[in-house]
Amino acid sequence: MGANQDLFDATYGTDTGGISPVWDLDTDSANARYGERYQAIPADELDAALSFLHKDWSAFTFVDLGCGKGRALIAASQHGFARVIGVEFAKSLVDIAIKNSKIAGVRVEVRNEDAAQFEFPEGDIIVFMFNPFRETVMRQVMCNLARHQGKLYLLYYRPEQSAVIDERTDFLAKIGQIPTAPGFCVWQGVAGACEGCLERC
Ligand SMILES: C[S@@+](CC[C@H](N)C(=O)[O-])C[C@H]1O[C@@H](n2cnc3c(N)ncnc32)[C@H](O)[C@@H]1O
Repeated sequence: MGANQDLFDATYGTDTGGISPVWDLDTDSANARYGERYQAIPADELDAALSFLHKDWSAFTFVDLGCGKGRALIAASQHGFARVIGVEFAKSLVDIAIKNSKIAGVRVEVRNEDAAQFEFPEGDIIVFMFNPFRETVMRQVMCNLARHQGKLYLLYYRPEQSAVIDERTDFLAKIGQIPTAPGFCVWQGVAGACEGCLERC
């Protein structure tokens, strides 16, 4: 755990640290085999990315696919989003995320769901992922996202499956890296672009 991560929990009185290996996650999802371990985002990097991309998030919903213990949800809540939603398939992590959000005094929605089954909310959204799952699940998530209407940003930290997203030029345009937060890769929804995109799924 780095110094920034210790500082986050010290600041909020939360417990978001540590690493949980995949075999330790309590989920009955068939997609567990494609999941990555739990580890929290350095909050200062997420802050830098959100500040760089857009100054006013008040019309947007922030969605964290694989929200773990909720650190990104708490960090995002400081940026004025209309809604903040976390999706996590491990029940014990969901419980911890809910507890952490209460301790931090932020209003977030935490869903105990598989990201592959999650239906994205209507309206303008930013979807955040910190390397949560492998290709099979990422492909399904991209199919679900292709149906989305409204403004869309995709913010991917440690983007190991970025090639899968790069394929979806039918509804996404790559912005690339963020100079102030180089661990991220970013895409933006292309308005009205979904010509034939659903047939691919
Ligand atoms: C690297 S952690 C990121 C945690 C959090 N987003 C953050 O940035 O602090 C990845 C998380 O994705 C979750 N995960 C993996 N596959 C998932 C799936 N198919 N559906 C929901 N959650 C999943 C894991 O349980 C883990 O908590």
